[in-house]
Amino acid sequence: MRGKLISFEGCEGSGKSTKLRMLEGYLQEHNIPYLYTREPGGNPISERIRSIILNPENTGMTPACEALLYAAARVQLLHDVIEPALAQGKLVVCDRYVDSSLAYQGEARGLGQDFVRSVNAYAFENYLPDCTVFLDITPEQAFARKHGADENDRMEREGLAFHNKVYQGYLKIAQSEPGRFIRVDAVGDKQQTFLRVLNALQAHGIL
Ligand code: TMP
Repeated sequence: MRGKLISFEGCEGSGKSTKLRMLEGYLQEHNIPYLYTREPGGNPISERIRSIILNPENTGMTPACEALLYAAARVQLLHDVIEPALAQGKLVVCDRYVDSSLAYQGEARGLGQDFVRSVNAYAFENYLPDCTVFLDITPEQAFARKHGADENDRMEREGLAFHNKVYQGYLKIAQSEPGRFIRVDAVGDKQQTFLRVLNALQAHGIL
C-alpha cells in the first residue's frame, strides 16, 4: 500500500525540530516504517540549492528567484526521495513543504499565494501532503522563548515584521484548508505540544 506524506510547518523558533525528533522516537518505538526528510534539501542536489538560497551573501536574490529555487529543490526531493519512499509504503515526514513557500514567498515576500501555487503546479501539479501540522506560536513568542532570533542564514536575518507576515500567511492557509492544515498550539511545554501533535495525527488517521 502506498504510504502517506505529512509535513510540519511553523515560524522560526516554533520548536519544529524538537517535535520532529520526538515523533521519530515515537515511530521507531512503534515500528512504523517512516522516512524523515527536510526542505529545502534532503538529497545532494536540493542541499546545494539550499545553500544558495540561504547564503547570507546572496542579498540581491529576487523574491521570484527565491520562489523558483525552492520549487526546484522540491521537485528534485519528490523525485529522488519522497516518491520512492511512498511507493515502498513508508510514512514520509517532511520538515517544511509547499506551505512554507505560500507563507514565506507568497505572503512575506509579497508574490501572492496564487503565484506560488502556479509555479508549484507547473513543477509538480501541486502535490500536497495528506496532512500538515502547523506549530502555532507567534514570532514574538518564539523569539522571547529563545531570548532572541537566530541570524545564521538569509531568511533568519529578516526582521520581525517579515516573520509576522509569514505567521499571518500560515493563518490564511489554516483558514482556507482546515481539513489538511492542522493548527497545534505550540506555546506551552514541549511534551504537551507533542501530545497534541500525536492526537492530531491520530484524529486524521495518519497514526
Ligand atoms: P529551516 O530553517 O526549517 O531549515 O528552513 C529553511 C528556511 O527556508 C526557513 O527560513 C524557511 C525557508 N523556506 C521558505 O522560505 N520557503 C520554502 O518553500 C521552504 C521549504 C523554506
